[in-house]
Amino acid sequence: MTTRLTTSAGAPVSHNDTSKTAGPRGPVMLDDYQLIEKLAHQNRERIPERVVHAKGWGAQGTFTVTHDITQYTCADIFSKVGNSCDILSRWSTVAGELGAADAERDVRGFSVKFYTDEGNWDVVGNNTPVFFIRDGFKFPDFIRTQKRHPKTNLRSPEAMFDFWAAQPESVHQVTILMSDRGIPVNPMHMHGYGSHTYSMWNKNGERVWVKFHFRTQQGIKNHSSEAAETLIGKTRESYQEDLFAAIEARNFPKWELNIQVMPEAKAETVEFNPFDLTKVWPHDQFPLIPVGMLEFNKNPDNYFQIVENAAYSPSNKVPGIGFSPDKMLQARVFAYADAHRYRLGTHYEALPANAPKCPVHHYHKDGAMNFMGPSTGHVDAYYEPNQYAESAKPDVSVAEPPLKISGDADKYVQEDADADYVQPRALYADVMQADERARLHANMAGAMAPCSMPVRERWLAVLGRVHPEYEAGVRAELARLDA
Ligand code: HEM
Repeated sequence: MTTRLTTSAGAPVSHNDTSKTAGPRGPVMLDDYQLIEKLAHQNRERIPERVVHAKGWGAQGTFTVTHDITQYTCADIFSKVGNSCDILSRWSTVAGELGAADAERDVRGFSVKFYTDEGNWDVVGNNTPVFFIRDGFKFPDFIRTQKRHPKTNLRSPEAMFDFWAAQPESVHQVTILMSDRGIPVNPMHMHGYGSHTYSMWNKNGERVWVKFHFRTQQGIKNHSSEAAETLIGKTRESYQEDLFAAIEARNFPKWELNIQVMPEAKAETVEFNPFDLTKVWPHDQFPLIPVGMLEFNKNPDNYFQIVENAAYSPSNKVPGIGFSPDKMLQARVFAYADAHRYRLGTHYEALPANAPKCPVHHYHKDGAMNFMGPSTGHVDAYYEPNQYAESAKPDVSVAEPPLKISGDADKYVQEDADADYVQPRALYADVMQADERARLHANMAGAMAPCSMPVRERWLAVLGRVHPEYEAGVRAELARLDA
C-alpha cells in the first residue's frame, strides 16, 4: 500500500509536481497553498550553526558498566556492573564551519550524552586531555582568533600565533595540535577526554576529583599533513563517510570509559594545579581505572533531527557526579544552555535528541514550541511550593556534599607561568621520539610561516622556554620554508 501524501495539517494532497495555474502558461493562483508551504518551509530549513564545533558527525549506541566504582560514586548508572543506558555521541572539529573539510588539522570535539535513569549526563570533551587556556574569560577572544578575520574574511595564522604567544599556557595544547595527533584519520581512531577535572561522591558523601578518558578500541591512527591535504582534494567528508560506512557494515566502534581519581585532600599537595585545564594528571600517580564500554551501533535515521539538534552541556550532570573549582568548567556550565536556547529554542531539552529517557517533572512553562504537556505531576500545580502532595518536589537526598573553599573574593590571579612549561617539556623531550619531534617542527613551522616576524619571534621564544631544541628545530624549518 502506498502512503498518501498530506499537508502538514494532515489533509490529503492531490498534486505535487506542478503549481496550480490559471492555464498552461500561468499565472500561479494564490490559493495554491502547497506551493506556498513548500517555499516557506525551505526558507526555514536552516538554523544557526554552532558558534564553535559546527562541523560534526554523530552516532547512537549503548554504554555498559563493566567495573564497580561504587566506592567513588553513588550515580545510579554506576550502581551495578552490567547496568547500561543509551548514548548519543557527536564528534566535531572546532574552528571550521558546517561545510568545512573533515580532515583538517584541528582539535576534535568528543561529546557523549548518557541517557541515564536519573537524567542525562553529558561529557563534552575533546580528543586532547588539555586545552589552550585555563580561564573562560579568554574563550571569546581565543575563538575569534580561530575564526575568520573581519576584513579579509580569511582565517588568520597571524591572529592565532599572536594570541598564543601572549598566552604561553597554550603551548601544551598547541604542541599536541601540531604533533602526529593533530589529524586523526576519523573519529573512530582517537581517544576522548572529559579534559576538565570533575568530581564524584559516594553514598557516604565522600568526594573525589575525577578525570574522564574514552580509550578507542580501534587504535590510534592519524594522517600526516600531506596525506590529509591529498585526501581533502578527493573528499571533504571523509569522517562522515568512514563512520557511517563502519556502522552500516556493523563494525561498531567502541571506546572504554576510564577514570583517573584524586582524593580530595591530595589536591592540596600535588605539585601542579589539578583544576588547571592546561595540565594533565600523570598516569603513574593517577592510573586509569576502567569503568565501562561504549558501543556505537546505530546511524541516526535523520542527521538533522538527532545530530544537529543535539544539545550537549557540561551542566548536564546526575547525582553522584559533580563539577570542580576549575574556572573554565564554571564558564562552560553557563555558556552551553545559553547557546542552545539561542540555536535551538527555549524547549531544546524536549527535542528527541535531548529528551531524557526517564520521567521529567519541572515547572518551566510555555514559550515557543511547548509541545510537552504538563509535567509537574498535578494539573493544578503550575507553581512550587504548592499544596498538592503528588506534585514534583525537590529531593534533598541527591544534594552534593558541601565544598569547602577558602581565599579572598575579588582576586584576578595570574597563575605561575613557569609551571606552564613543565608538562609540554616532558611531552617534547621524554614522550616524543626524534622522528615525531621532526614532524612537530615541520608542522609548527608550516602553520606559523605566514605570520609576521615579530609574531614568529614571540612564539619561538615560548617554544624556547619549553626546550631549546624545540625552538631551534622550528627555526630551522622556517628558514627552509623561507629559502
Ligand atoms: C569557557 C570555555 C568554553 C566556552 C564558553 C564554550 C562554548 C561553547 C559553545 C557556545 C558551543 C556551541 C554549543 C552549541 O551550539 O551546541 C560549544 C561547543 C562545544 N565545545 Fe565548548 N566552550 C568552551 C570550552 C570548551 C572546552 C574546554 C572543551 C573541551 C574540553 C569544549 C568542547 C566543546 C565541544 C565538544 C562542543 C561541541 C558539542 C557538540 O558536539 O554539539 N569546549 N562550546
